Amino acid sequence: MAGCGRSLDSPCTLALLVGFQFAFVLYFSLGGFKGLVSVLVHTTEPEFDYSRPHDVYTNLSHLGVPPPPPRNSGTGPPATGPPLKDCQIPSPLLVGPVSVHLSSPLSLEEIRQRNPLVLPGGRYRPPDCEPRHHTAIVVPYRNRQTHLRALLYHLHPFLQRQQIHYSIYIVQQWGNSTFNRAKLLNVGVREALRDEDWSCIFLHDVDLLPENDHNTYTCHKQFPTHLSVAMDKFRYRLPYPQYFGGVSAVTPDQYMKMNGFPNQYWGWGGEDDDIAARVRLSGMKIVRPPVAIGHYKMIKHKGDRGNEQNPRRFDLLKRTRLNWRSDGLNSLTYELLSKELQPLYTNLTVNIGEDPHVPQGKAMSYPRRRSRQTKNEHGTANI
Ligand SMILES: *[C@@H]1O[C@H](CO)[C@@H](O)[C@H](O)[C@H]1NC(C)=O
Ligand SMILES: *[C@@H]1O[C@H](CO)[C@@H](O)[C@H](O)[C@H]1NC(C)=O
Ligand SMILES: *[C@@H]1O[C@H](CO)[C@@H](O)[C@H](O)[C@H]1NC(C)=O
Repeated sequence: MAGCGRSLDSPCTLALLVGFQFAFVLYFSLGGFKGLVSVLVHTTEPEFDYSRPHDVYTNLSHLGVPPPPPRNSGTGPPATGPPLKDCQIPSPLLVGPVSVHLSSPLSLEEIRQRNPLVLPGGRYRPPDCEPRHHTAIVVPYRNRQTHLRALLYHLHPFLQRQQIHYSIYIVQQWGNSTFNRAKLLNVGVREALRDEDWSCIFLHDVDLLPENDHNTYTCHKQFPTHLSVAMDKFRYRLPYPQYFGGVSAVTPDQYMKMNGFPNQYWGWGGEDDDIAARVRLSGMKIVRPPVAIGHYKMIKHKGDRGNEQNPRRFDLLKRTRLNWRSDGLNSLTYELLSKELQPLYTNLTVNIGEDPHVPQGKAMSYPRRRSRQTKNEHGTANI
């Protein structure tokens, strides 16, 4: 009888070898080392295939149409349909990675035709379910027509698939003074909240386009969110740990708690680091989506006239700790010159005053090009 003998070629050893081989095959077919690590370390980092993105208008024709209202018999109060069901979370319409078209965007009229459910002012509400999120998108703006069209073409279908109630506000700085992004954001937040009780406010650069619709435009209950964690410009990584630029989000409560944003940053740079410092100083922290989700593409452009690097930004940043309680939402002054409900966005045109450090009327005569190589608060290079 063949027992487990000492000899190498005993049937028992052979069976053992075959068994090991089988285990290896099983191990690799289950995802190999990566799969094993994720089982052991419990990584929850999702994976997406960005090499095969969907068209950003995918599934838009599936957007539900509301049930027709019951016939009114003529007398009595106008009939209202049954209450809508809550929208599902996550939205069943999401597709993951979407392609981004950076060049030659369509005309505003063509974009409007592709988004028939968007209402004047750039508003939208899912027609067939009750949205759980109400988000105002605030975009500081001046002289970026092509970027604006690329953003609207991309963001409207992207947000409609997420089944949220939203509106897009363009806050346009009037006049020729140096650009002031953070102050325009303050204005946008205040004006948006005059319109509606938004539960979440997005602070969105005009030249950033999200690449994955699982990056939902909603707020964290407790803490400010930084969304653009993986921009192509920074090789899809966070450029430095405190980075808060690009796209971020706050609830009205979080915004009040940090006294809004600084009003004193005229020109390019520094204001996002100041905002990140305010988050910390007011006892909060920054939360972020996984890097695999927070992908953004940036539209390339030359430096803007009237948005030169702010030479005072490092001095200002040293004083954030002293200044944040007195400079911000509670010291904001501006003049709303016009508010127009365009088909795809609300146009707020505001006079936010002049950069006190530039002689009046001189801002536009600065040299046009600026170096893109800059230092941030921590001394590491931005690209
Ligand atoms: C959305 O599009 C994806 C990809 O084309 C498809 O697999 C999915 O079924 C669609 N979802 C709905 C709700 O139609
Ligand atoms: C801005 O500059 C242009 C060209 O120099 C000038 O025509 C215009 O009046 C200026 N606007 C304001 C508000 O100063
Ligand atoms: C916003 O409105 C102002 C004032 O009517 C106008 O000059 C400007 O071109 C508008 N901007 C956009 C982006 O629609």
